[in-house]
Amino acid sequence: MIGTAQTNQNRLRVLIPEEKLRARIDELGAQIRRDFGDKPVTCVCVLKGSFIFAADLVRAIGGEVKCEFLGVSSYQGGTQSSGVVKITKDLSKPIEGQHVIIVEDIIDTGLTLHYLLEMLSVRKPKSLSVCTLLDKPANREVDMAADYVGFAIPDEFVVGFGLDFAELYRNLPYVAVYTP
Ligand code: PRP
Repeated sequence: MIGTAQTNQNRLRVLIPEEKLRARIDELGAQIRRDFGDKPVTCVCVLKGSFIFAADLVRAIGGEVKCEFLGVSSYQGGTQSSGVVKITKDLSKPIEGQHVIIVEDIIDTGLTLHYLLEMLSVRKPKSLSVCTLLDKPANREVDMAADYVGFAIPDEFVVGFGLDFAELYRNLPYVAVYTP
């Protein structure tokens, strides 16, 4: 048991510690609330990766916030995007006429976000913005930019704070570089 834990720890290098995440998410929430004034916003949490970020972000935004969940998978267990975006769970309510914010954990190739923006814009939201905790601009395959970015990161495979490798490490309270 101890041996396994040590082996896994050796594969992890902390990139963004817990305190930095907390402080930046508070800033993002305040910035979003300033931009939208006292208007209600609908946060679309893109599962599974953004569930931890979204939980903190919606509390940092404050005021009237609706929470919706969208299940999406593109990595299918590996460290490279498959390029095929699969919807595993659709929104439970219409978003027409609402100020919608897509909440992502990471933008990597941009393929997932490209697909989601097309998919959600036809549902006629009043506005559609994107907030991502992490942005890996070096790896883009389509030109995509978020309205709100927590941290730009280098082209390394990261886990923790919702992000996984083979479904593990989502529960780490920090973001770490993972070396398989
Ligand atoms: C991750 C992440 C984003 C997407 C970004 O999801 O949560 O949705 O990949 O990558 P891209 O910019 O290259 O498209 P993943 O498919 O790993 O599913 P998960 O969130 O359930 O882990």
